[in-house]
Order: sequence, then C-alpha cells, then structure tokens
Amino acid sequence: MSDHQPVLLKETIDLLAIKPDGIYVDLTFGRGGHSRAILDKLSFEGTLIAFDVDAEAIEEGKALEELGKRFILIRENFQNFFSVLQDRGVKEVDGILADLGVSSPQFDEGERGFSYRMDAPLDMRMDQRNPLTAAKILSSYPEEEIARILYEYGEEKDSRRIAHLIAEERTKKRIETTGELVDVIKRAKRAKSLFQKGHPAKQTFQALRIAVNGELTALEKMLEDLPKALSLHGRAAIITFHSLEDRMVKRKFRSLTTVEGSRYHPVTEEAKFSDLTRKPIIATNEELLQNHRAHSAKLRAIERNKP
Ligand SMILES: C[S@@+](CC[C@H](N)C(=O)[O-])C[C@H]1O[C@@H](n2cnc3c(N)ncnc32)[C@H](O)[C@@H]1O
Repeated sequence: MSDHQPVLLKETIDLLAIKPDGIYVDLTFGRGGHSRAILDKLSFEGTLIAFDVDAEAIEEGKALEELGKRFILIRENFQNFFSVLQDRGVKEVDGILADLGVSSPQFDEGERGFSYRMDAPLDMRMDQRNPLTAAKILSSYPEEEIARILYEYGEEKDSRRIAHLIAEERTKKRIETTGELVDVIKRAKRAKSLFQKGHPAKQTFQALRIAVNGELTALEKMLEDLPKALSLHGRAAIITFHSLEDRMVKRKFRSLTTVEGSRYHPVTEEAKFSDLTRKPIIATNEELLQNHRAHSAKLRAIERNKP
C-alpha cells in the first residue's frame, strides 16, 4: 500500500491558525496527513472531527485515536457534514479543511480503477457502499449522457467521438476494465489530440470519477453549509486539484467576502468573511520535486470576521 504525502501541509496549517482548544473539522481524512498536523497543534481540550467515505481510510484512521486526544472519525460524505455536526451537538467550529479528490493509496491501488496506467476493473468508487461504478455508467447510460459527462466534467474536446465509440463497442462486449477503456479512448480520439500534453485518457478518467462519486454535487452542498458552520474568527481552507473545483471554490469565496453594491443601492455593510488568499497558494518548487500530486493543487482560505 502506498503512503499519502499531504499536499501544501505547512501552508494549510498556517492558514488555519489553529487554537489549541478549538474545534476543527477535516472533511477529507484520507491517510490523515493534515489531521495529524492539526492534532499536533491541539491541546487535550481541543477536538478534531474528521470525515471520509472510504472504508480503508476509516480503518487506517483508527491509529490516530491512540494519540489520546479528542478525535472523532466519521464515515460520511462531507456533503452532509453540517447536519452530522448538528446531530452531535456541535453548532459551530473554529476551522474546516478540505483536501479534495482521491488519495494516493486510492490512486495507486490498481483494483480501485482510478488509474489509466494500471489494468483493473472500472470501479472508481471512493465509497465502496456506492452502487454506481464507472463500468455501470459505460454500460447503461445513453451515449449523449456519456458525452455530456466527458465534456462537462473532463473538458474533453473529443467527448462525442469517445462516447460514440463506447456505445458502439458495448453492443459487442461490455467495457469492464481500465485497459479496455483506454484502448477505446485512443481509437476514438483525433490523431492530433493524441499527441497533446498528458495521457489521452486523463480527462475521460477524471470525468468518470467525478460522475461516479458525485464530486461536484458534494462540493456544492458542502460550500453551501460551510459559512453556517464557522464561528467568529473561524477559518476554512480548501485545496482543489482541477479547474472545475477551483472555479466553484473561488466563486463561493468571492461571494462571501464581497458585498455587491450598485449606484442606487450603495454598499452600507461589510462582508462577513475576509479572503486570506487573494491569489490561490500553489506548491513551492521544492514540494513539486517531492510530491507529484502537488502539481495542480490550489489552496484558498477565508475567515469569518463578523457574527
Ligand atoms: C486527497 S485525499 C485527502 C488526503 C489527506 N488530506 C491526507 O493528508 O492524508 C481525499 C480523501 O477525501 C475522501 N473524499 C473525497 N470526497 C469525499 C466526500 N464527498 N466525502 C467524504 N470524503 C471524501 C477520499 O476518499 C480521500 O480519502
């Protein structure tokens, strides 16, 4: 099993400005890289509540319970984090972190089906309880819907061609493995796009992963509840890994940190949140050399400065 090297670790922890007795939430526990660093800063009065949907992440997380600090790990989609906190009597928290996407162990374990570099069943579920797999999408969704997924979630220019070939191939044989899908993508793509930067299957795999896990819906719901959960001077930090996610976070944070006025309705009040990262923070060259996952990472953060 591979380890997960936390991305932008120091930057994230610095931005969260952790109060030793505060209540913190890690929405994406993974292998606990960020959680461990938060726990290091917390006293025995502080609390960390972490979420993940992956059974393996939850299993490995048990090791952190042994540190003796207040640490609660919950197997739940972060789109429900606010109601879960409320059910547990937690009304507001001092900091929230989300490090989106898949972890290195998920990506590197061939059988999870996230990687186009390893032949494996087309699964791509982060939550093993989810009945939908990538293979099911390819075998049962209409061609137009597959094309839409590839275009919207993968920004794949050859989406229609790929969806068309998938629809044709599946009448002969169900597409069951990552290797079979890569082969279809390579045959479907226009010759010129085969020579562009990056693996030809990268965007299709990203798109299917987002669809299988409902990633953008989960992010949208989480962003909706985020401001309600932050206490005065509470902070939120989010790390994204592709432009669709980053755009959503950027827009949400902008709407929270600015008050739009007009000629007839001048601004009379200030925004309740302030932006801690006018430009997103990206990895240093040093981190990039050590951690391939850091390449597309962007970190944005806000703070509540009014009740
Ligand atoms: C990039 S990893 C986090 C790595 C972690 N920060 C670390 O340092 O070890 C993302 C994790 O979030 C989980 N995840 C992704 N989307 C989720 C969601 N909507 N709800 C709960 N967990 C989610 C994945 O299963 C994965 O384990």
